[in-house]
Amino acid sequence: MKLQNRVAIITGGGRGLGRSVALAFGMEGAKVVLAARTNEEIAHVAEELRSLKKDALSIPTDVSEEEQVNHMLKRALEAYGTIDILVNNAGARGPIAPLHEISLAEWEQTLRINLTSAFLCTKAVLPIMIEKKEGKVINVATTLTPRPNLTPYMVAKAGLIHFTKQLSRELKDYNIQVNAIHPGVMDTRMQEEIRKAGAKAIGTDMFERLKEEGILHLPDEPAKLVLFLASRAADGITGEYFSFDDKEVKFLISRT
Ligand SMILES: NC(=O)c1ccc[n+]([C@@H]2O[C@H](COP(=O)([O-])OP(=O)(O)OC[C@H]3O[C@@H](n4cnc5c(N)ncnc54)[C@H](OP(=O)(O)O)[C@@H]3O)[C@@H](O)[C@H]2O)c1
Repeated sequence: MKLQNRVAIITGGGRGLGRSVALAFGMEGAKVVLAARTNEEIAHVAEELRSLKKDALSIPTDVSEEEQVNHMLKRALEAYGTIDILVNNAGARGPIAPLHEISLAEWEQTLRINLTSAFLCTKAVLPIMIEKKEGKVINVATTLTPRPNLTPYMVAKAGLIHFTKQLSRELKDYNIQVNAIHPGVMDTRMQEEIRKAGAKAIGTDMFERLKEEGILHLPDEPAKLVLFLASRAADGITGEYFSFDDKEVKFLISRT
């Protein structure tokens, strides 16, 4: 078992990639804490894990709110006593529009859910990881290739990649590894929403073509990359950004 008895918080664990990561971690022996806003979804994933005789706890949380994050951590510690792994996966695409049509509120909200949430969750768990001199933080970012009309989301995710690099240096002496991934184009609710906005809104027919050409993949595949980075096999890796679209990355995870 790659994560036997390790305690992992997965934000946005109710569907899409977060759910796939939760199931992959549970199957490898982790105790999984699921944090997202929609209680039915995280409760359902926790139930799926418990029906497989795996430890899982769902805690309704808006991870862009500090008080809720701290409450979630308190409950996780009461249940499992420690935190070994944090997956900052929660995200939302924000407005699909040219920059001059985006309000300040939309800009701030998009940065808050995609970047500030990772700051809040990481800040909350770090004292525990620093004390035990061990930990893994995995940040789910996106591609670095610009996507028109998604600027707040893309900027927040680019910030998340630099956040990863900054922290990896800061935490090296504490044996805490921090890495970021781009999970590729996954067929999840987020992707459906982007497609529904139409080719015009995102300035390209790219997603339709990706679907037609079978490039859209299920989140179970990039979940294996997250699993690899959470495992001891990745102990020497920190401050990196891995794209699931990279053939070498696919090769690496196919061997784990
Ligand atoms: N799908 C893709 O092609 C793609 C590509 C590149 C990167 N990504 C990234 O991959 C990650 C997972 O995306 P996905 O495709 O699996 O999306 P998804 O199916 O829409 O799932 C997003 C998850 O984030 C949670 N979330 C959103 N806002 C939240 C908040 N304020 N507090 C707590 N949880 C929140 C959602 O739960 P609630 O709404 O219930 O809170 C949900 O569980 C995201 O970070 C996304 O940006 C996705």
